[in-house]
Amino acid sequence: MKFDLAIKNAAEVETDCLVLVVVDKGDRDKPQASVLSAEKALQDAAQELISSSELTGKALELAMLHRPVGVKAKRVLFVGGGRENKFSPNDLRKIAGAAARHLKSKSIRNLAIALPSSVHFHADNAVRAAVIGVLIGDFDPDTYKSDRKDQRIDSLTIAAPVGSDEKVLRPALEEGRIIGESQNFTRELVNEPSNRLTPTILADRARKMASETGLQCEVLGPDEIKALKMGAFWGVAQGSDEPPALIVLKYAPAGAPAEPVLGLVGKAITFDTGGISIKPADGMEKMKYDMAGGATMLGAMRAIAQLKPKVKVNAVICASENMPSGKAQKPGDVQIAMSGKSIEIINTDAEGRLVLADGLTYARTKLGCTHLVDAATLTGACVVALAMVNAGIFANDDTMYERFEKARHQAGEKMWRLPLDDEYRDMIKSSIADIVNSGGRYGGAVTAAMFLKEFVEDKPWIHLDIAGTAWVDEAKPFIAKGPSGIAVRSLIEFVRGFAA
Ligand code: BES
Ligand code: MN
Ligand code: ZN
Repeated sequence: MKFDLAIKNAAEVETDCLVLVVVDKGDRDKPQASVLSAEKALQDAAQELISSSELTGKALELAMLHRPVGVKAKRVLFVGGGRENKFSPNDLRKIAGAAARHLKSKSIRNLAIALPSSVHFHADNAVRAAVIGVLIGDFDPDTYKSDRKDQRIDSLTIAAPVGSDEKVLRPALEEGRIIGESQNFTRELVNEPSNRLTPTILADRARKMASETGLQCEVLGPDEIKALKMGAFWGVAQGSDEPPALIVLKYAPAGAPAEPVLGLVGKAITFDTGGISIKPADGMEKMKYDMAGGATMLGAMRAIAQLKPKVKVNAVICASENMPSGKAQKPGDVQIAMSGKSIEIINTDAEGRLVLADGLTYARTKLGCTHLVDAATLTGACVVALAMVNAGIFANDDTMYERFEKARHQAGEKMWRLPLDDEYRDMIKSSIADIVNSGGRYGGAVTAAMFLKEFVEDKPWIHLDIAGTAWVDEAKPFIAKGPSGIAVRSLIEFVRGFAA
């Protein structure tokens, strides 16, 4: 996709379609649509649609006109932004995405978005949101469709009013591009089926991305994983014919302070059958997305490498299959994690926490990470608790949580904090080892997080359970069905917060 910034009247922009935001200024029972533009030609263009109530400003409502008088664009697409007093960059992102998806479904591949006038946020935030929104909307999980090339947006122009500061808006456009493309990089990986994305192939993809963006990349294989005494990770990997990979990415920019060193740890089970505690056949195909946490960290690192915040960041991605076989671990087995803790395996399907246990220990003890964040499609219980709406956030430190919460809010992603009270610790006690890997039916998302907490020691830590949110089950106007790329944007903002 090509991007351009046009600092001129939107009515003067030549494009296949000019997108304009319409909000509702009225009160609760009487809508009053209003075009967010200072230009008379654009306001006039909407007049009849508003009079006929075809346009009310309702969120994501669409209305298209051809060649309105006094407008150079071939078409104008009005998109509803909801209540005026609540209108935010987040709404603009969704509008941009909905516009992109609507237009490409009509084979219209060039668009311009007019920055909304008289809003209470800065124009650079609007530019970022619009660019990210179009990139997210443009993505379709069509890697394996033979007609995929027919379905992409070719160009996006951001039309900014005369007098806008190019020195502010150009970098915002570039940032939006990096962030949106990185989120799509994650989605592309998550969409890959397990026969086309083994741990080895994921490591190759990571290496390629690292060499393109200037990150250091190191991949540890089975021998190194065993030599490091990663008994929890190896316990999962041992059942598969595909060798596991511990993917390590390092970002250490010149001028960054020695500390903090941020550690991003991702679960990358390229396919989760459940192992010997095998999953039912129904819906098992979806378990190709059990590597979403790892792909999230790769996407975040891709953006960080290009945005260049002055803070050290490492990523550790634990890639493995979880398979039943004659070599697979069995319920009742005891594994010794890299930290020395012994784990009684109750259920081989609780494998994510096992690979993460050693990933977190590695980040802490070998890479010197002072602050840890992990992301994982960890539990079905998190989906029961929060459905597909919010990801679960867990934190062992309130300052760390507040930092993350601020970043999450800026990024416009939905997540909700869940508890980690000491009382839950009893639920992962084992009678023969230090802990069990499954706390049973109740509070499953919490007991999984309590398990991880055993391996972060005193380090401030955030755990994101993205089991319900990494995959969009029902398409929305602004995002396709399929991988969502959840948490990539929050993590980017979180890392940037440490550099500011
Ligand atoms: N990968 C699954 C969790 C999952 C479930 C992700 C649904 C996405 C959608 C994880 O490895 C798992 O199987 N967890 C078990 C844990 C249980 C055995 C303690 C679960 O949630 O059922
Ligand atoms: Mn599992
Ligand atoms: Zn899993």
